[in-house]
Amino acid sequence: MTEYETILVRQEGRVGWITINRPDALNALNTQVMWDILSAAEAFDADEGVGCIVVTGSERAFAAGADIKEMEAKSGLEMLMGDHFGGWPRFAAVRTPVVAAVSGYALGGGCELAMMCDIILAADTAKFGQPEINLGVMPGMGGSQRLVRAIGYYKAAELILTGRLIDATEAERAGLVSRVVPADELLAEAGRVAETIASKSLPALYATKAALDAAMETPLAEGLRFERHVFAALFDTADQTEGMAAFREKREPRFEHR
Ligand code: CAA
Repeated sequence: MTEYETILVRQEGRVGWITINRPDALNALNTQVMWDILSAAEAFDADEGVGCIVVTGSERAFAAGADIKEMEAKSGLEMLMGDHFGGWPRFAAVRTPVVAAVSGYALGGGCELAMMCDIILAADTAKFGQPEINLGVMPGMGGSQRLVRAIGYYKAAELILTGRLIDATEAERAGLVSRVVPADELLAEAGRVAETIASKSLPALYATKAALDAAMETPLAEGLRFERHVFAALFDTADQTEGMAAFREKREPRFEHR
């Protein structure tokens, strides 16, 4: 498995694990972290032996934001022309479902990275927020858009305009977090969720994730049309034949991921 500078990568069964590893900077997301995460995620995405990816950080920080020290001296033109956050849309576009396992700080770009994932599991120690306003800037990796869609305009606007941090309980109540678990159970639970997902048919997972993405991005009628087509397309897979036969025969399906 490829070695990376800023992340640790491993595969357990059909689950690919990416652990952000910049302890001295609370896992701040500099460009190297971005390209490392993207490269690992795209490698897992290209591997039919992987059905789910988990992204996690340390106990203290999932990620405390984009790297402020790296950005500080840049001009607007450099941020734009240098395509400073250019790897993130590609990470958000991987076909494989991604679980964020969040412990400690998920701030700014850290919160935005979690929101690029499909499921956010939070330790009861997790803290979420978009504090960029305190730096004289604003969210730049999707926060002003994804947070509004995730938790609604008024809650998102309050968090983004004030920079207030919220704990895991408030994040769950707001709908930002799929589920809160005790901190010492986070990784085991993330592993269980990821294994469950990875045991399903890969074509069905890809189609489902694409349809869920469409729900965030398209008007209802267009999303429903898309869903109808990808749903129908799954009837040409071997796994649909197997899944429905297994139901009829009252046994567990044996998916071949095709
Ligand atoms: N960028 C660069 N370095 C960071 C960082 C960040 N986002 N967050 C923390 N660090 C570094 C600190 O500078 C410190 O390094 P040194 O020891 O070399 O000084 C180290 O990590 C430990 O941090 P603290 O000493 O500050 O730890 P703390 O426990 O006192 O505070 C914290 C923790 C409240 C999270 C605080 O570190 C903090 O406020 N961090 C910045 C949070 C933030 O503003 N995030 C948004 C960034 S901008 C962004 O993300 C834009 C976007 O939308 C893409």
